[in-house]
Amino acid sequence: MSSRRDFVKTAALASAGMAIVPETAFGTSSSLNDSKLKLAFIGVGLRGTNHLNNALQRKDVEITAICDVDPKRIEIALGNIAKAGFKKPNVFGENDLDYLNLLELKEVDAVIIATPWLWHTRMAVDAMKAGKYTGLEVSAANTIEECWDLVNAHEETGSHLMILENVCYRRDVLAVLNMVKKNVFGELLHFTCGYKHDLRHVKFNDGKTAYGKGVEFGEKGISESKWRTQHSLLRNADVYPTHGLGPIAVMADVNRGNRFVSMTSHATKGVGLHKYIVENGGVDHPNAKLKWKQGDVITSTIETANGETIIVTHDVNSPRPYSLGFRVQGSQGITDFDYHTRRIFVEGKSQGHSWEEMDTWLKEYDHPLWKKHGEYASGSGHGGIDFFLMNAFVASAKQKIAPPMDVYDAAAWSAVTPLSEASIENNGEPQGFPDFTRGMWIKRKPYNWIKETY
Ligand SMILES: NC(=O)c1ccc[n+]([C@@H]2O[C@H](COP(=O)([O-])OP(=O)(O)OC[C@H]3O[C@@H](n4cnc5c(N)ncnc54)[C@H](O)[C@@H]3O)[C@@H](O)[C@H]2O)c1
Repeated sequence: MSSRRDFVKTAALASAGMAIVPETAFGTSSSLNDSKLKLAFIGVGLRGTNHLNNALQRKDVEITAICDVDPKRIEIALGNIAKAGFKKPNVFGENDLDYLNLLELKEVDAVIIATPWLWHTRMAVDAMKAGKYTGLEVSAANTIEECWDLVNAHEETGSHLMILENVCYRRDVLAVLNMVKKNVFGELLHFTCGYKHDLRHVKFNDGKTAYGKGVEFGEKGISESKWRTQHSLLRNADVYPTHGLGPIAVMADVNRGNRFVSMTSHATKGVGLHKYIVENGGVDHPNAKLKWKQGDVITSTIETANGETIIVTHDVNSPRPYSLGFRVQGSQGITDFDYHTRRIFVEGKSQGHSWEEMDTWLKEYDHPLWKKHGEYASGSGHGGIDFFLMNAFVASAKQKIAPPMDVYDAAAWSAVTPLSEASIENNGEPQGFPDFTRGMWIKRKPYNWIKETY
């Protein structure tokens, strides 16, 4: 999800929801230890500030340190921390490597990393080596080597890494996961998913989203356009696979009795960014001369060890409504679900061969977590999913246990970027996924997502 638009229909519940805060929503349940988690943030840009604000709603964390190389972002973060009545944290950000000093602090148990992609693996590896419980924004890694770096750091240090894939907590995603686990769709066969989000024209001003016609990036850009657009210029790859693929991988028990085996990828030509720049900056704008490497629509097909296929789409440079395009299909039924479509067909339950509206199914299979905290969570960002994400992170970090989405998931989901690049480069040649679990996927047990603990 991008924090730059609010797709969430329930956002209006925000202020109402905040007033009714269940005690357990703050992870104060006595089954977890009562001490506060000492939490630090590396990167308090747009996304890091979302995470910070969610942490500031909790009674079971202290914010002990923040780091960002942009003093304006530090100022915003410190303002929010003070406003929430939290103690002033240690501040870092003198230079690009100042995060290493933050990691030396004893008063940091866990760290959330929300920096540009090229910093992710490096910072996460350093954090694990420093013994910190590590939360890492998506995607986790840019190359296969980086995927292994994450796995190796975890295995060498015993420190855990949670990939912060918030879409796994979407209400409809968790309800469909519940249906999958209760065998509504029968034996799983096929999935679709992707990141289809028009990212051409977003500007950001003074901490509030504003939609503009910006055609600048890099040094002249703001927030993600400072660093993300560069990837479209230089890489023909699905550079952002996890919002779609994470939830599907969870449903298919990937790395836990199943694994991604191979993938083919194809790219269309890339015309969207050039067209946009010409239309909004003029044909003489220097950026109109650039040759964009990334195809506008990138389609990958993954095969799993258990005989399923997953079609993953990356589509961010064309005019289009937002969609993650979820489809789950099995031997007994099928669903397409998204913010714009919710339909299902289950043999023996649905009429004839017709799609049916999914609302009653979603209610029946609503996840226990959403039943419990949904009203409060709706105020936390991205329609509530960020609340559940933070809750799971804090609970896992406090107990020092493996998180729901771990380092093997981070590696396998992120590997789509370099593998799609290699496949596209070689006319769709299949690329094998490394087995990041080193064979352990065969006996690793699925994480129990359908429990109500946190
Ligand atoms: N899960 C979601 O819904 C979601 C939404 C938006 C962004 N993201 C992800 O979050 C990450 C950050 O995205 P963003 O939109 O916040 O970008 P951003 O550019 O707004 O924030 C990144 C921050 O990192 C800081 N930074 C850069 N190098 C640094 C360094 N060496 N040390 C310390 N700070 C450094 C920058 O100054 C900036 O403030 C990306 O991985 C992005 O893909 C996820």
